[in-house]
Amino acid sequence: MNKLNLCIIFGGKSAEHEVSLQSAYNIVAAADREKYNLTLIAMNKEGKFYLCDSLDFLENSDNPKNIKIKNTDNEIAFIPGERGNSIYSLRDNKVVDPIDVIFPIIHGPFGEDGSLQGLLKLIGVPFVGAGVVGSAVGMDKDIMKRLLRDNDIEIADFIIYRDIVEADYSIAKEKLGIPMFIKPANLGSSVGISKVSNKDEFFNGLKKAFKFDGKVIVEEFIDGREIECAVKGNLKAEATFPGEILPTDDFYSYEAKYINETGAILKIPAELDNKIADDIKEIAKETYKLLETRGLARIDFFVTKDRVLVNEINTLPGFTKISMYPKLWKNEGVKYPDLIDELIALAIEEFKNNDKLLSTI
Ligand SMILES: Nc1ncnc2c1ncn2[C@@H]1O[C@H](COP(=O)(O)OP(=O)(O)O)[C@@H](O)[C@H]1O
Ligand SMILES: [Mg+2]
Repeated sequence: MNKLNLCIIFGGKSAEHEVSLQSAYNIVAAADREKYNLTLIAMNKEGKFYLCDSLDFLENSDNPKNIKIKNTDNEIAFIPGERGNSIYSLRDNKVVDPIDVIFPIIHGPFGEDGSLQGLLKLIGVPFVGAGVVGSAVGMDKDIMKRLLRDNDIEIADFIIYRDIVEADYSIAKEKLGIPMFIKPANLGSSVGISKVSNKDEFFNGLKKAFKFDGKVIVEEFIDGREIECAVKGNLKAEATFPGEILPTDDFYSYEAKYINETGAILKIPAELDNKIADDIKEIAKETYKLLETRGLARIDFFVTKDRVLVNEINTLPGFTKISMYPKLWKNEGVKYPDLIDELIALAIEEFKNNDKLLSTI
């Protein structure tokens, strides 16, 4: 079998940069070298792209707080339309080795929101995960929730602010009750999120969220279990039996996700009746489809005594060995390296389908 030239793109210009490095580290370690030649591209925090000189590309790889990309001076540019030969080294003045498929694993803005996907689409190389639309609507909690609501999928009630001067505590409290959750509309990993119960906390929470995004979502508090479901596929998708997050802190914070090992417990499979688990799997697949997702996604739920609500979709979920997404597949018998193979096959399938479309009349 011919080896595929697999390019992994990671890092990114967002608060989730370090998380992406951990995901990339695990993918590099697990990708089968009999099947893939690896090319590694790092996006730094300024949004510039660099080719890594070797597969040993990280400093402090075992310390999530200090993990960072090793220095490289090999800045690259992308040449649209050149397909596999689109990656150009500005240092060496030449095209980098050809690429067959790209696995972008940049979480959050610029990586998971459709911008990087647009660039990869222009290049003309298959890439893992949702395309431009699926990535963009999946990232924007406001648009995502409106689409879900429009399709009768239950979500928490919410208000959107574009500017802090629009916010009125009494009106918000009247509509949503207390406590409320305040979040930047386009981010992830719990960055910039607050749980607030009075006017001071409300405005402090808004100030914090507006530091990260020009659009902020305020939600009613849902007192429920946090249940997550992994989905993979293109138009036809499959879902796993759900898992549960048991935060030991007040909520599932950034620290609990990535820094403090005891901050949350992942329970896989979740203790759920088969009937509820089946409902969750169906809603997960429906959400996946109506948000135009491709490749993979993790759909997160709140489950109360009598309701199943979708909290959010993550179109490029955390992909470290200990992340929920790969663990849910492992529970179904899909090992981490096989999962990588499947996601790459889905990327190629999706690319071929789109490549068949006419571009002239
Ligand atoms: N409406 C809500 N009710 C209760 N808890 C919430 C609510 N929204 C968020 N949370 C808590 O905050 C965490 C992060 O919020 P989430 O919407 O998943 O944002 P992110 O995209 O940053 O992961 C959730 O995992 C949950 O613990
Ligand atoms: Mg979340």
